[in-house]
Amino acid sequence: MLEKIKALQDEIKNAVTSTMEEVEELRIKYISKKGSISQLFDDFKNVPAEQKKDIGKAINDLKCFALEKINVLKEKFESAVDSESGTDLTKPGEPIKLGTRHPLSLVRNEIINIFGRLGFTVAEGPEIEDDWHVFSALNFAPEHPARDMQDTFFIEKNPDVLLRTHTSSVQIRVMERTQPPIRAIFPGRVFRNEAISARSHCIFHQIEGLYVDENVSFADMKQTLLHFAREFFGENTQIRLRPSYFPFTEPSAEMDVSCSICGGKGCNICKYSGWLEILGCGMVDPNVLDACNIDSKKYTGFAFGMGIERIAMLRYGIKDIRHFFENDIRFLKQFESAI
Ligand code: DAH
Repeated sequence: MLEKIKALQDEIKNAVTSTMEEVEELRIKYISKKGSISQLFDDFKNVPAEQKKDIGKAINDLKCFALEKINVLKEKFESAVDSESGTDLTKPGEPIKLGTRHPLSLVRNEIINIFGRLGFTVAEGPEIEDDWHVFSALNFAPEHPARDMQDTFFIEKNPDVLLRTHTSSVQIRVMERTQPPIRAIFPGRVFRNEAISARSHCIFHQIEGLYVDENVSFADMKQTLLHFAREFFGENTQIRLRPSYFPFTEPSAEMDVSCSICGGKGCNICKYSGWLEILGCGMVDPNVLDACNIDSKKYTGFAFGMGIERIAMLRYGIKDIRHFFENDIRFLKQFESAI
């Protein structure tokens, strides 16, 4: 029996493995319940009493030897240390906690993508502006109330340095430096001297759109905005345009979409009208084109502007605009998304 033990020991000693599976095979072969070492323990019953001590010890030693060998082989595969960097490449990675995008960024990106597919590019302009780009070039009369201290934040009492009150100013910047065709949208932050409440804030975001070329018509605008509304709010969305007034467009309109919450039947979000107002739009006033040295006899265009907060509030059912600016992690982490 001792020879048998010795032979097994040599066998185990010389065993080589090149994969984890082979190590496992080795374990099964020698130390599992049906393995050869367990077999030895069975045979041990028949060993004469006077040899029991020596043979018992030999079997136990063999088992320890086999266990040790298998452990060494296992470790070799478990800790495949990269010899160059000294890093254990097989260790589980540190879990990376992914952040989430801000809901305003999600909505802005989605709007940019929709218009991007229609060929609109993206441009940005400065937040600190002058009177010309925010008001005068946009055909605001000198005494227009929007210029009033009540609405506009002026910087250092200088009436010509102010925080833009809308992204329409970027229309002017783009038209001043580009001749038609122009097809672009302008996302950005705007500022108004308003009391902060659940519905309004002194800082918010808008996306402005501008399309100027030969023969651009009101029908082009309507179809573009209908396409946008259906892409964003769903394919059954209806739109309606109500006549309105903006100094920089003529004619001007406000656009409503059928309420995506009640499907137009009427609910407390749409105040039981079935419609939600989402943007202002119109045909670019010839005075605005002329102010930017674009030939208003040759070119026409449409423009539109919408508030991102309002659209995000509708999309996510957010009731208070202040949530967007408080950066409460419990609020923000609800907006996990792929984009
Ligand atoms: N600038 C307007 C506002 O802040 C929104 C707007 C209305 C933009 C009509 C436009 C437009 O381009 O055509 O309320």
